[in-house]
Amino acid sequence: MRKPVAPVSGFCHIPAMSKVAPSVLAADFTRLAEDISSAEKAGVSLLHLDIMDGHFVPNISFGPDIVKQIDGITDLYLDVHLMLSEPEKYFEKFCDAGANAITFHLEVHPDPGKYAEQIHDLGVKAGISINPDMDIEKLLPHLHHFDLLLIMSVYPGFGGQKFIESTLTSVSTARSFILEHSLRTEIMVDGGINRQNAKSIIDAGADSLVMGTAFFRDEDQAELVRTIENS
Ligand code: DX5
Ligand code: ZN
Repeated sequence: MRKPVAPVSGFCHIPAMSKVAPSVLAADFTRLAEDISSAEKAGVSLLHLDIMDGHFVPNISFGPDIVKQIDGITDLYLDVHLMLSEPEKYFEKFCDAGANAITFHLEVHPDPGKYAEQIHDLGVKAGISINPDMDIEKLLPHLHHFDLLLIMSVYPGFGGQKFIESTLTSVSTARSFILEHSLRTEIMVDGGINRQNAKSIIDAGADSLVMGTAFFRDEDQAELVRTIENS
């Protein structure tokens, strides 16, 4: 279901993003509706949906049909992270499934501007992502095309991994670049994030944090969200 998003012409801020973006990959798929309902009650404004093809990353997750079912049971903003070798083949499918933002990886499209335009033409926010070993300087010249920058703080493919501290440098470098060039790109960090490291990532310049394992295993998700929102 198409949720109201800001007009697509040019950049527009993603509607007030909560600082916590639960990654559904870590939810219990035998009780997905309940897990999504608990995320809603916890006060988040978006869900992060990890799409994996078993080729760009060594894992396979879920596709547009599951995204469509998720879209049918929640009004949360759907932030779709394509870890695919040929993401452009699926932009329209995930838009039709209800994606509000579609992010792909610079590693598969070294000249990503034209794909940002394709995503914007679908009425959806465009995001670009880099792996921990990618030099952020390679991405910065393209950043003005994008509403969202997803900095991977683990190597993509699996939840439950350890946060890679060195990625904080990419976060602060991107933050300085965005400020210097008055861009409106939001910075999201993804992988290995928990109560203990959340504040340092926000202090480095992140607008939002993808949390999979740490969110869905937390005893008090609402308190977790409040704590991070206020940090
Ligand atoms: C990894 C995904 C991440 C992951 C986050 O490839 O892109 O979004 O699901 O899960 P945690 O928070 O458990 O690292
Ligand atoms: Zn992700």
